[in-house]
Amino acid sequence: MAIRTIVKLGDESLRKECRREEKFGLRLALLLKDMAETMYKAEGVGLAAPQVGILRRVVVIDAGEGLFELVNPEIIERDGEQTGREGCLSLPGRQAIVTRPRKVKVRAQDRKGEFFEFEAEGLFARAVCHELDHLDGQLYIDVMDRELTPEEIEGHVPEDDCE
Ligand code: NI
Repeated sequence: MAIRTIVKLGDESLRKECRREEKFGLRLALLLKDMAETMYKAEGVGLAAPQVGILRRVVVIDAGEGLFELVNPEIIERDGEQTGREGCLSLPGRQAIVTRPRKVKVRAQDRKGEFFEFEAEGLFARAVCHELDHLDGQLYIDVMDRELTPEEIEGHVPEDDCE
């Protein structure tokens, strides 16, 4: 296991379309393990492979419901809307208000290539949308409603009551 370096805004890896993962072997297992360890150490709720410089459709998420390892994930259903805070480990010290679906249904493969589906709501749904955007080179700053000031990041904003 190893902590990987999280690339920051300006690194071209963050703006690339990632390729599907086709090989479900030891290399993928190690990547997933490293990504989870890196995410937990950075106290994030999600991490996408391009954030560690790997241009593959691989994501880890733990929004309080346990670790989800998603390979080649796709959102197959979206429902409702939520507006709230969002940040990104590749944009440290920044936050924005972003509107996302309230609920999503996801189809993905696990580390062995087996397909599975699950539903996510609230923060988990937000994390899914955010991380899957990374796989297409999209960042929250591309879709945000507004960026928070440093004072707002520390304090309360009206959108905190919206979720
Ligand atoms: Ni991010």
